[in-house]
Amino acid sequence: MIIITDAKPDYLDAIYEVERSSFERPYPRGLLKFYLLLTPRTFLIAKDSRSGRIVGYAVGLLQWGLVGHVISIAVLEEYRRKGIGRALMKELETRLSGMGALYFVLETSLEWGTVVFYNKLGYRVARFLRSYYGREDHGVLMVKPAKYYSPAFE
Ligand SMILES: CC(C)(COP(=O)(O)OP(=O)(O)OC[C@H]1O[C@@H](n2cnc3c(N)ncnc32)[C@H](O)[C@@H]1OP(=O)(O)O)[C@@H](O)C(=O)NCCC(=O)NCCS
Repeated sequence: MIIITDAKPDYLDAIYEVERSSFERPYPRGLLKFYLLLTPRTFLIAKDSRSGRIVGYAVGLLQWGLVGHVISIAVLEEYRRKGIGRALMKELETRLSGMGALYFVLETSLEWGTVVFYNKLGYRVARFLRSYYGREDHGVLMVKPAKYYSPAFE
């Protein structure tokens, strides 16, 4: 079974391993540590309860008291397409909503699969981000209203 729960400083090595194996240009371990110190309530991990292995993580940040910014999410390759990414996002959105987020935003690469993933979770492309990840390496800004995950609307 996969458990979605709070990240802890002890998990940083495993989280970094997920990050390193998922991105061509991973965030530095120090940046992940910084986010964990800054916003522990919205730094989540997915753990395989049988092996104890950390197989995914997601981190978000409440900005200006009303924007839930999804900073990053990744799932180990062999655990993908099993609903773990969706579960991480749902818990992250619930927590950000509980803190006051009215909508969620994220930046992602133009890679087809990632845009489809977020699209299935209700995100829509709001803006093209030219050369966001480097020269001629474009991204998109995706947005979703938060009200649908507010307990009052469930
Ligand atoms: C993006 C990512 C987190 C998705 O995690 P996941 O656990 O595989 O996602 P889920 O299994 O919860 O998928 C949720 C839905 O999105 C769809 N989906 C996920 N990845 C997809 C892909 N590459 N292509 C098409 N659809 C995809 C699933 O089929 C599922 O749809 P369904 O509910 O209709 O069956 C994972 O692929 C990943 O870690 N990628 C590398 C890192 C990355 O790009 N992170 C996001 C950028 S910030």
